[in-house]
Amino acid sequence: MFRFISRFALGALAAGAFFAAPDATAGDAAVGKGKYVMFCVTCHGLTGKGEGPLGAALNPKPRDFSIGDFKFDADKDGTPGTDADLALVIKNGGAAYGGSPMMAPWGATLSDADLENVVAFVRSLKK
Ligand code: HEC
Repeated sequence: MFRFISRFALGALAAGAFFAAPDATAGDAAVGKGKYVMFCVTCHGLTGKGEGPLGAALNPKPRDFSIGDFKFDADKDGTPGTDADLALVIKNGGAAYGGSPMMAPWGATLSDADLENVVAFVRSLKK
């Protein structure tokens, strides 16, 4: 399992490095996928519907990323679900914005670049 995940993450990293535009400022979904697979699939699932082994039992349920409708206005600019909001929720956790503590803070694990890349991957799950 670990070998599978690390090969997957390396593959995603290599793909991201290859396709990333040199002046890209937004996150890179292919790179973000590696982190997502490592830290987020247990709840959110690979398709983002919350079908991970832990996610199914949670109340409230993890957000369904295939719908792409987000809840928290973390930067309080009046519009929930912007890239900045998602990055803040992932960084500081759901409880910081009145949500579930099961959505843990990842700021100690993910760099700002990681956060942008993971947000780009979460966006890519919308059908
Ligand atoms: C232990 C389970 C768990 C893990 C692991 C987890 N999440 Fe969540 N996540 C949740 C739950 C539950 C919610 C819904 C919180 C709520 O509604 O209060 C959520 C909500 C979210 C949201 C929605 C925010 C919004 O404004 O609607 C995003 C984005 C998100 N998670 C991203 C991530 C990312 C990226 C990772 C990995 C770095 C991750 N989550 C790991 C359980 C988890």
